[in-house]
Amino acid sequence: MKIGGSVALVTGANRGLGQVYARQLVSRGAAKVYGAARDPAAVTDPGVTPIALDITDPGRVAQVAAQCTDVTLLVNNAGVLKYSTFINAPNLDAARLEMETNYFGTLSMCRAFAPVLAANGGGAIVNMLSVTSFYTNPFDASYGASKAAAWSLTNGVRLELHHQGTLVVAVHASFIDTDMAALADVPKDSPESVARQALDAVEAGQVEALADERSRTVKASLSRDHELIYPSIQEFWDDAVSGTH
Ligand SMILES: NC(=O)c1ccc[n+]([C@@H]2O[C@H](COP(=O)([O-])OP(=O)(O)OC[C@H]3O[C@@H](n4cnc5c(N)ncnc54)[C@H](OP(=O)(O)O)[C@@H]3O)[C@@H](O)[C@H]2O)c1
Repeated sequence: MKIGGSVALVTGANRGLGQVYARQLVSRGAAKVYGAARDPAAVTDPGVTPIALDITDPGRVAQVAAQCTDVTLLVNNAGVLKYSTFINAPNLDAARLEMETNYFGTLSMCRAFAPVLAANGGGAIVNMLSVTSFYTNPFDASYGASKAAAWSLTNGVRLELHHQGTLVVAVHASFIDTDMAALADVPKDSPESVARQALDAVEAGQVEALADERSRTVKASLSRDHELIYPSIQEFWDDAVSGTH
């Protein structure tokens, strides 16, 4: 679908990648861009219409879908990362928050906006996933589980909405230079690059955008993940546990 003339809604549009998605949608000629955020006053970019939305609040999600009936492109960008392990986390709070936001919040948005998109000719959904949808890393284990669940829902929603002509795009990325990855001292992609590739995928009708070399390599290695992916993660984790790192 064409970005030019579309009516987009971006979740988590107040900062990070979501802000860049909203800016690029404006610059690529979207007719209207709703910038959804828990604090709408923080959405200040020219051409972006702020709207209050916590994606974990089903009542508010329903209200926003009832209000924004002109949406043709939904960008499910909002997410949380708590850097939490499965076993040594003090409790399940981080795992539950990540699942509530990254999985149930995204699912809730897809369900609420599916009829809106259908009424407007099909449109598209972009779900912001991660390279950790493909494998587990102990450093952000429960986040990875939530992104794996969101990957599964993305594939399922695509199947369920095919009949109404809705394009459902999965975007996988490794580290992106935003607040979320601020603690990681590693090479990062720019949010501009990730958003541009995601929106290019929408325009090209592609169901998946693998936004960087790491995401492409990992996806291509999945059939041999226990040989090609997990040994180096295990080694790094064992070193971390033993205090070498
Ligand atoms: N940064 C990376 O390395 C990286 C890599 C791969 C994928 N991703 C994914 O890319 C997306 C954007 O992340 P980012 O890097 O821009 O992270 P970020 O800088 O931490 O921004 C996260 C955004 O999500 C919003 N958000 C969190 N919970 C929300 C909720 N319940 N309702 C509405 N908005 C909520 C935040 O709003 P507040 O300001 O109110 O907190 C913020 O706008 C996420 O889905 C993330 O998982 C990030």
